[in-house]
Amino acid sequence: MTDNIYQSLLEKLTALHQEHLLAHWDSLDSPRRMRLAEQIHAIDFVQLSRLYQERGCLFDVAPLAAKAQEPPAFRLEHDGNTIGNTVGNAISRQDAIQAGRKALSEGQVAVLVVAGGQGTRLGFEHPKGMFPIAPVSGATLFQIHFEKVLARSRQYGNPIPFCVMTSPATHEETVDYVAENRRFGLAEADVITFCQGTMPAVSLADGKTLLAAPDQIALSPDGHGGMLAALKNNGVLKELSARGIRRLFYFQVDNPLVDIANEEFLGYHILAESELTSQVIRKQSPHDRVGNIVSVDGRLHVIEYSDLPDAVAERRKPDGSLEIWAGSIAVHVMNLDFLERQADNAAALPFHVAKKKTPFVTPQGDLIKPSEPNAIKFERFIFDLLPSANNAAVVEVDSKRHFAPLKNASGSPSDSPETVRKQVSDYYAEWLIKSGATVAPAAKVEVSPLFALSAETFAEKVAKNGMTAVTADVCFR
Ligand code: UD1
Repeated sequence: MTDNIYQSLLEKLTALHQEHLLAHWDSLDSPRRMRLAEQIHAIDFVQLSRLYQERGCLFDVAPLAAKAQEPPAFRLEHDGNTIGNTVGNAISRQDAIQAGRKALSEGQVAVLVVAGGQGTRLGFEHPKGMFPIAPVSGATLFQIHFEKVLARSRQYGNPIPFCVMTSPATHEETVDYVAENRRFGLAEADVITFCQGTMPAVSLADGKTLLAAPDQIALSPDGHGGMLAALKNNGVLKELSARGIRRLFYFQVDNPLVDIANEEFLGYHILAESELTSQVIRKQSPHDRVGNIVSVDGRLHVIEYSDLPDAVAERRKPDGSLEIWAGSIAVHVMNLDFLERQADNAAALPFHVAKKKTPFVTPQGDLIKPSEPNAIKFERFIFDLLPSANNAAVVEVDSKRHFAPLKNASGSPSDSPETVRKQVSDYYAEWLIKSGATVAPAAKVEVSPLFALSAETFAEKVAKNGMTAVTADVCFR
């Protein structure tokens, strides 16, 4: 039986110059042979070979960078409110808030977090969402996000479906963790967990697919752009559409300050009749490590900081400010019908190439742990949908209040557990101060989303309690 399977796999793989994947077949027992065969069947080797051939020109950033201009945007004024805008159709802040409220009251909005990344830089052995980040309670990223969704749905008296995208690397642990914590109060029907796909790693030198173990192809998540196919293949788009959802609020698991389903942001998206709207922050320096949202021939694109030529990044306007100023914080709102249309378009998202150090097993059975990049991984990015979106829009937010990404290990000078906790605490201390209290400099402050989602609600609640001075760590729950 397995002889027949071997023969047919060998024929297929020989034609594709990938027969080395069967080098260990004789040493594998039957279940492990089956496991390897299944993985081989699932891979589109023709696509992989084409990607390898075209690796130098899959996503050519040079023509975009050459023509990049600042995007039209709803800009922030200095008081931190979105009131000015450089988009043709002026939309007032008040109108935007009203439109966002209406969409939430009518149950049109679902929320999606991408949590399939492996978080290598953080050096945490579990899914990043399980990292304890809240400055006082130690609540995890997932707890904070789930509670924000719950609080928003209570505010509008409508359940908000919460979609959690995992990858094979994070799926099981995430599902168990969420179940153990009873979905942090969300109803079972409102949590939709689905797993993204994978792509094999290929050798940089010759394009051959790498084996991570004798019975295991080296696979890694296919980038957050894998969300598009995964939403469709797992029936999530259909389910959301059947529930009357029209907009998806999207964010990354690593940002505890994300303001989930913020009304004003949703409102600009709706009133500008945009199919995809992105939050941005004003970059502090030309080389800030964020994606740059730029306009090219009237369409929006993201150029990663690593791909933007210095000469373009450093260009300044007559007033001295950066021309390429809009840093993406990877918070978007997308129309469901736009996603449905794009999910049917195989070419909707290009692949990007990442060169990585990937351990592999040789045909002789040696495990090699390379010290230099030896492999290519192909990934898709969801923000590459921007140029296809009609009326795509950009909304500037204050980085101090909206963006505290946890990327790096403890002790790093930025985006580390310590810097993120401090920023979260400072943010909530600002709410306390606004509500009339004083806060001792050493006191850490935290507000659970279930206590208040905004500084205004917080001030109302605190006024009732008559809080005036905070001298020690405090968590409002
Ligand atoms: C990302 C953005 C960058 C943006 C920054 C803001 C990319 C390529 N760049 O950078 O433009 O300014 O965030 O913080 O995305 N993920 C998956 N599946 C995958 C890969 C990633 O779900 O296959 C998720 C991760 O869990 C995470 C998010 O995508 O939530 C971002 O991934 P990460 O690799 O941390 O992106 P950055 O390089 O930090």
